[in-house]
Amino acid sequence: MRVSIIGTGYVGLTTGVCLGFLGHKVTCIDSDQNKIALLRAGKTPIYEPFLTELMAEARPNLSFCGEYAGSLQDAEVVFIAVGTPPSADGSPDLRYLSEAARGIGQHFEGDFLVVVNKSTVPIGSGNWVGSLVRESYEQQHGRKANGHFSVASNPEFLREGTALHDSLFPDRVVIGSDNNRALQVLYSLYRPILDQTFAAPTYLARPEGVGAVPLISTDLASAELIKYAANAFLATKISYINEIGQLAEKVGADISQVAKGIGLDARIGTRFLQAGIGWGGSCFGKDTAALVATAREYSLSMPIVEAAREINRRQRERVVEKLLAELKILKGRTIGLLGLAFKPNTDDLREAPAIDIARKLIERGCKVKVHDPVAMDRFEREYPDLSVVCCESPEEVADEADALALITEWQDYRELDWEVMASRMRSPLVLDGRNALDRARLERFGFRYLGIAG
Ligand code: UGA
Repeated sequence: MRVSIIGTGYVGLTTGVCLGFLGHKVTCIDSDQNKIALLRAGKTPIYEPFLTELMAEARPNLSFCGEYAGSLQDAEVVFIAVGTPPSADGSPDLRYLSEAARGIGQHFEGDFLVVVNKSTVPIGSGNWVGSLVRESYEQQHGRKANGHFSVASNPEFLREGTALHDSLFPDRVVIGSDNNRALQVLYSLYRPILDQTFAAPTYLARPEGVGAVPLISTDLASAELIKYAANAFLATKISYINEIGQLAEKVGADISQVAKGIGLDARIGTRFLQAGIGWGGSCFGKDTAALVATAREYSLSMPIVEAAREINRRQRERVVEKLLAELKILKGRTIGLLGLAFKPNTDDLREAPAIDIARKLIERGCKVKVHDPVAMDRFEREYPDLSVVCCESPEEVADEADALALITEWQDYRELDWEVMASRMRSPLVLDGRNALDRARLERFGFRYLGIAG
């Protein structure tokens, strides 16, 4: 099928590359000409495991374009995968979404186009996008748009760091549409994924037991709400275990054991129960805020989601409080942060706890040293004013440090020679912000070990 994708961020690019790999003819459109130049050269503007490799395999089916003209006139499906960043008041900024909708209306010349919202958009946006597309089509072409367009919602559930795996082997596919023709087009598009009939690349092998993927076919509003409800549930699950972690710490319980003990109940599940400094990233914070804001428009409050947000905010403060309790005086101390990205296997720094924690420590008069295996370049570009010492290795962070705090649980940090790390520090104190390190081993090397919970 002929597919166009507007926006080459995590969602757009991953979708484009996967659909290209499955044999569809895909045009990825982005107004950022630097990104387009990079992509044409076979490079990816984001760090995502195996994306470059899969893009190379899909290359014969992929093209990249810096403008709408010439890139969607005969498409059968167009995905809108542009950013919806939070604006000053917390509500999503829909500027790029409306530009994309207008661009589609202006440039489409075929008979029938399925316009798919893949960006996380406020509930009700499907109808709004439809009216923008039709309006600009009618202005441009001077004829009625009736019957030429159908808007569908197809929310994305991929996680950064495992984006390709999540797209090729999803737990489910959700499609919201009230138009049969549009539904048929999207079934055909996703058929290889729904039936799992494609040959998986060796570096992204199909996990054992993955068979046909469930399809939820529903109305627009339900599909839009599924996205928010899923992210808010996952965020709440993490905040819940972090809340239990605080009690675990008081009563002397081990939160990892508690999480395992409850998670093995199939009704609860073991995933997203890793206690620590909480969630970051561009999704959970933004989507929980948007859900609360939408509910407010209907005079509803969402106390569970609000509490999850508050607990998450407090987890970051606890890092500073714990170091203060242990070191007594923070002014003049050197604190090393291991990890900047909001989670491992990405260089994404949006809403990263490390940034907040570094700021709080600097306010308290600490000297802050930082390292990340992948995100250093991005950090120096995006936070030139944050006065921290950027280090080339974790060992350099340890030099003369009064304490180290593990902020992102990169595998590299688990495998460090912690004996050497201890020998380079002023005092071997480690705060394991992700409960990811081997406490007994670190204590053998003379570390005083602090968990974030339990
Ligand atoms: C999240 C969702 O998991 C995806 O399903 C969704 O598609 C995506 O948002 C989105 O809306 O675009 P992502 O933000 O990439 O994906 O990353 P997650 O793996 O969900 O992690 C989010 C944060 O939660 C990270 O900071 C991670 O460190 C933290 N986390 C995760 C925990 O603190 N504990 C856990 O047990 C799991």
